[in-house]
Amino acid sequence: MEHQQPEPWIWWKHGVIYHIYPRSFMDSNGDGVGDIQGIISKLNYLSDLGVDGIWLSPVFLSPMVDFGYDVSDYREIDPVYGTMDDFKMLIDKAHGLGIRVISDMILNHTSDQHPWFLESMASKENPKRNWYIWKDGNKSGPPNNWKTTVGGSAWELDETTGQYYCHSFFKEQPDLNWRNPALSEAFFTEVKFWLDIGVDGFRLDVINFIVKDKKFRNNPYFFGIPVFQRHIFTRNRPKSHKIVRELRKLVDQYDNRVIVGEIYTLPPGNSKIAASYLSNGSGMHMAFDFSLIFRHWSARKYYECINDGYRYIPEKGWPCNVLSNHDLFRSIDRFPWRHNKVEKAKVAAALLLTLKGTPFIYYGEEIGMRNAKIKYRDIQDPLGKRFWPFFSGRDKARTPMQWNSGKNTGFTAGNPWLPVNADALKRNVENQEKDKNSILNFYRMLIKIHKSHIALQQGRWVPLIAGQHGILAFARIHNEERIVVVLNFTGRKKRIFLAEHNFGCVLFSTHRKYEEIFYFQNLWIFPFEVSVYKA
Ligand code: GLC
Repeated sequence: MEHQQPEPWIWWKHGVIYHIYPRSFMDSNGDGVGDIQGIISKLNYLSDLGVDGIWLSPVFLSPMVDFGYDVSDYREIDPVYGTMDDFKMLIDKAHGLGIRVISDMILNHTSDQHPWFLESMASKENPKRNWYIWKDGNKSGPPNNWKTTVGGSAWELDETTGQYYCHSFFKEQPDLNWRNPALSEAFFTEVKFWLDIGVDGFRLDVINFIVKDKKFRNNPYFFGIPVFQRHIFTRNRPKSHKIVRELRKLVDQYDNRVIVGEIYTLPPGNSKIAASYLSNGSGMHMAFDFSLIFRHWSARKYYECINDGYRYIPEKGWPCNVLSNHDLFRSIDRFPWRHNKVEKAKVAAALLLTLKGTPFIYYGEEIGMRNAKIKYRDIQDPLGKRFWPFFSGRDKARTPMQWNSGKNTGFTAGNPWLPVNADALKRNVENQEKDKNSILNFYRMLIKIHKSHIALQQGRWVPLIAGQHGILAFARIHNEERIVVVLNFTGRKKRIFLAEHNFGCVLFSTHRKYEEIFYFQNLWIFPFEVSVYKA
């Protein structure tokens, strides 16, 4: 094997990133909603956890129909989160602790209250008319059969001008027309504004939705059933890759910035499509494919998914891994059966933090936060309101971060915007800091190990046991440094034999002592064991 020159350390590639849902992280002013000063007050916590970057769900000015994913001014901070000075302070203080700040960026749509849309609505002749997607209806109604992701037609009739506008989400989120160079130029200016302010990068919201079919062709259906639309003409159009590459060029004019995109597909978890947006080093730096999230709890299934995902990553691309986010259920509650949830969460976390690719941690995941039970009267998410009682929405994974056993779990002095999860008295940061076996300390230790081993940051991924009998084992190798990870997905004792490596010295384990040496031939693995060795 050729000697690999270590790459210089690149924060987004070799570090760990933490996703904050700002409404729910920490409230500094007692209005019940988390804010930027709240995040600032918890930077030391994040620094102790060991993260290298934070991604903030949007804090731009917004009517909050979709809690910030409907932006009415990309240059303003919504007062509920604070001011531009607060945001600049966050960047400064975070940078002071070696933590980078990634902002969300929503290119697909704005709020219907954005001045661009208000102008676009004003008349068919308005110069901004074509900044959005307007179309005459056909005889029977909307221009074609396109559907939103939130139910119903993607077309909304504007009575005044008699035309329909397109929206992939709620009608208050009209889609921008990225086929119009005037729009892309204007939008890139907004992006540049934030780069100049000093954000370290962007998470690109539903970036694969941004371009729609030029000819407005009808989407076909899965199995011919109209509710299961195949979004052939509304997602992943070739031009969307081109726009991402242009965005990359802009971002590359600045040092050390990153773009990571959300690639939402149906069925979810399409690694091939996600990887296509990396354009072999000239597109996004990373793309969320969510494939691990939708896998059954099985070492074999996880192995297949990981291996498959890596196959698609182009030579100059880089993977990223994630277990949950603000749109999905908490990962710990997706693992099957009520028993051993914490053990399973640790196995999953170990995977997240030792696989090849940048780990993204969703706030609260590091303390094993659960889905909260949300009563109908407490629902905030518009999706929950629309689909109750069939679907209660996304609030259950957005409840306040559980800091301590005090009032409102230390999140706010006021009334929290979503109820605090009933388990917060026992499951919180303060309690877990004191418990050396807590998930929190597990994350901290593994992040530390990730940080101090070049093989975990840059090394090749070499599978050793591909999920047979519930065991996943692999090595990460960088020149002489070899790390071996052994994970037992089951509640049963197993015996393994690793032909490729003789023995290893324990770096971290749920069951073995630090620095003890074990031979990998005929080694018994404990139920749900996580062990990381230096081999
Ligand atoms: C993304 C966001 C989600 C939002 C949607 C529309 O999927 O993650 O929260 O509702 O885009 O912007």
